[in-house]
Amino acid sequence: MNDQRGKKTKAKRKKQTATQFTGRGMATRVKTAKGRKSSSTRWLQRQLNDPYVAEAQTRGYRSRAAFKLLELNERFNILSAGQNVVDLGAAPGGWTQVIQEKLGNSAGAIVAVDQNEIEPLDGVTVLKLDIYEENAPDQIKAALNGQADVVLSDMAPAATGHRSTDHLRIIGLCEAALDIAINVLSPGGTLIAKVWQGGTEQDLLTQIKKSFKQVKHAKPPASRADSAEVYVVAQGFRITK
Ligand SMILES: C[S@@+](CC[C@H](N)C(=O)[O-])C[C@H]1O[C@@H](n2cnc3c(N)ncnc32)[C@H](O)[C@@H]1O
Repeated sequence: MNDQRGKKTKAKRKKQTATQFTGRGMATRVKTAKGRKSSSTRWLQRQLNDPYVAEAQTRGYRSRAAFKLLELNERFNILSAGQNVVDLGAAPGGWTQVIQEKLGNSAGAIVAVDQNEIEPLDGVTVLKLDIYEENAPDQIKAALNGQADVVLSDMAPAATGHRSTDHLRIIGLCEAALDIAINVLSPGGTLIAKVWQGGTEQDLLTQIKKSFKQVKHAKPPASRADSAEVYVVAQGFRITK
């Protein structure tokens, strides 16, 4: 090694506070650095030791969340060629990539919605849209050019750290997803939406049960055990108006 480079590497290593990923099954420890909050250190350590993160990188998925949809789909058999699918809270696009894979080159429409940017994906209509906008259902309907067979929502609010506030916010997003589903689903359709375990969920569940024949909760293995998130899987949409 060239001497100059050797010196630089040594200096860099001294400054470096996080060890590199050392491979599957081997825990990587991250030292708390000056200026880094211990919550960031914990996040980094978890990322480095998470086999789903590594596998997502290997398979080219934009997020580890892709595995949650793969697992939900394996259990409930939701996605198939020819369907029209709406993906709410789609950024950065892991779930959308799974939908793309499962629908293949069929004529179905995929509409990916998020308030944040989503990098373009082949065959996907991307809408940068806050789901609370008044005309959100109309915009999604227009992008679908028809009805949807499946509405998925992995939407989550930016966490405030205040448990009951965060809980109310995610329930709000789930209600918005239900509203979209009621507006765009064809009879027999499916809604999957992220919720958090907790009190208010019961009211929402009652509303969902009115509109769907079969409603179950599922926590896919890729969902972190310490996260309160679960998914409501509602199948057999029926028009109740
Ligand atoms: C957990 S991430 C989704 C990850 C995504 N399923 C994937 O596989 O890459 C949650 C997303 O919900 C979006 N979101 C939260 N509130 C929203 C809102 N009001 N309207 C639209 N998107 C929202 C966030 O911007 C964020 O991108």
